[in-house]
Amino acid sequence: MDDVLLKQTVDCIADYYNDCKVGYVGHEGYRKSTDLAKFGKCIDELVRLGLIDSNHTLFLDLGCADGRVNMLMSYFVKRSVGIEIDPEILAEFSPRKEELAHKIQSKNLNQPPDNIFLFNGNSLEAATYERIESAINVRFEDIDLFYTYITLHDLFGAKIAAEAKPKALYLVYGFSKILPRYQGLHLLIPDVASQGILALYGKGES
Ligand SMILES: C[S@@+](CC[C@H](N)C(=O)[O-])C[C@H]1O[C@@H](n2cnc3c(N)ncnc32)[C@H](O)[C@@H]1O
Repeated sequence: MDDVLLKQTVDCIADYYNDCKVGYVGHEGYRKSTDLAKFGKCIDELVRLGLIDSNHTLFLDLGCADGRVNMLMSYFVKRSVGIEIDPEILAEFSPRKEELAHKIQSKNLNQPPDNIFLFNGNSLEAATYERIESAINVRFEDIDLFYTYITLHDLFGAKIAAEAKPKALYLVYGFSKILPRYQGLHLLIPDVASQGILALYGKGES
């Protein structure tokens, strides 16, 4: 990252969320969260490669939980959209955002842009995307970059292959060495920024 203030802001966000509980056994099983320090390095690399652009890229986290990935991505994309099936988990977003804003302010860093839009719903259901379109005028086929932390990665991969725009990108967090393959998608970068956490796929044949 060339911009020193942006780098410090990303570090601050990563520190904040990485200190919040990172995985617990809840009603619906074990939940894990993206390591934002490593993820930030991956995003830096994707920006450097010209694959993400803050003026154009529409980002969707298909299972966004407390919106931490959306928060970090908001600095690098045009719109940072998330869908979370569990309303209690999604409700963590606002208080954390507020607490983080104080931290950012106390360090004179950049507040996040006003481009984060999170929705309660099932990422596999058409009705969820109808609500998103009527709220912010973004359709599934408008999304440039999809994200999942392992969750339903195969079903999301199939949906992207079938319905996303040509050349849409799909970031899958949580695999290393042995990577899944998805019909209709090709592996673009097996290990983004050599962090051992993130693989990038593109829609279409290589
Ligand atoms: C492993 S957590 C990852 C959270 C966040 N993306 C991150 O990386 O820190 C996966 C989240 O996806 C949610 N989820 C599972 N199935 C979903 C679905 N069909 N639609 C939307 N969210 C879903 C879970 O409730 C959980 O909060």
